[in-house]
Amino acid sequence: MRAKGEAFRTIWQKPGDSSIVQIIDQRMLPHEYVIRDLKTWQDGAHAISAMLVRGAPLIGATAAWSLYLAAAAGRDAGNANRELQLAAEKLRNTRPTAINLGWAIDRVLAVAAKCNEQQLVTTLENEARVICDEDIEISKGIGRHGLTLLEEISRRKAGGTVNVLTHCNAGSLATINWGTATAPIYFAHQRGISIHVWVDETRPRNQGSQLTAWELAENGVPHTVIVDNAGGHLMQHAMVDICIMGTDRTTRSGDVANKIGTYLKALAARDNNVPFYVALPSTTIDWTISNGIRDIPIEERDPQEVSHVYGLAGSGTESVQTIASGTSVSNYAFDVTPARLVTGLITECGICEASEAGLARLFPERAVRK
Ligand code: MRU
Repeated sequence: MRAKGEAFRTIWQKPGDSSIVQIIDQRMLPHEYVIRDLKTWQDGAHAISAMLVRGAPLIGATAAWSLYLAAAAGRDAGNANRELQLAAEKLRNTRPTAINLGWAIDRVLAVAAKCNEQQLVTTLENEARVICDEDIEISKGIGRHGLTLLEEISRRKAGGTVNVLTHCNAGSLATINWGTATAPIYFAHQRGISIHVWVDETRPRNQGSQLTAWELAENGVPHTVIVDNAGGHLMQHAMVDICIMGTDRTTRSGDVANKIGTYLKALAARDNNVPFYVALPSTTIDWTISNGIRDIPIEERDPQEVSHVYGLAGSGTESVQTIASGTSVSNYAFDVTPARLVTGLITECGICEASEAGLARLFPERAVRK
């Protein structure tokens, strides 16, 4: 997928200065397109926790690049390994739900453990690049497999428009490019399948209306933003052919943690016989746990995300308070949809049922042996 008419990545090394990593500040979209420099691992940790970058795969990639920055700073100060361990510990706690964060940190530390201090910086630079390149291939794999579902619906509707409902942003902006939930959509659009996306606005941070709508528009994919509560009504009136969601952590039994509100969409989909699919890279599977409701940590974020809304005001952007000062607010960022409500999981290795047997069939080397 492209943005601003050009080939697109969400994180990259600054051309001409490989000591700096660059990102798009996603807090400013869609009104401003701002590139930020990450010069230190602390910049990377801040970018993750303050959500300049977000989305499980991009969070993991940002952590990998941050560890490269930590190793470089540590080398200059003569203590590369200590700086690396310190950065890894701090980064690990920046966002608790997305498992890709811990996955990327463990992968980079494992590579670091096998090389000497002289090679450390170049080795970690290479590893961060490989993680990003692999993520693009993984998204494309999800796109290829998910496309078959959209082709089938298009055939059934004799070429009529396929209406997809999605929540939050599991798009290019959440990955390195292509996205997870959006990859099948981009593939279908490129194949000439008539497709239209219902975009949940996704309060409180509006990743749907501000990010998903932006990237679909950049790529000419027809879409309509709806309030989060509209999905059930649309499903009752046969206006949704398929739901495709992302996920921040999926248990080995197929329970899915995703942006708050996903569970309610799954309930509405079940009640209306709408297929409910979750698209995920295998890096998002937590093989160590089975019961998502009990075992997936759910991030609670700043109440200000609920009490305030960011948007255009006149010629500039502004954050305004929408509720009375002093009102009690809670802000759970994710919920868990039990596997029984998920029609299938779309991965880079194929589509499977949301169950331990389904995932074990696609990833036999990772499955827990009994
Ligand atoms: O809080 P966010 O914006 O990081 O939440 C993102 C999501 O919930 C996405 O759907 C999920 O990370 C899947 S991304 C491919």
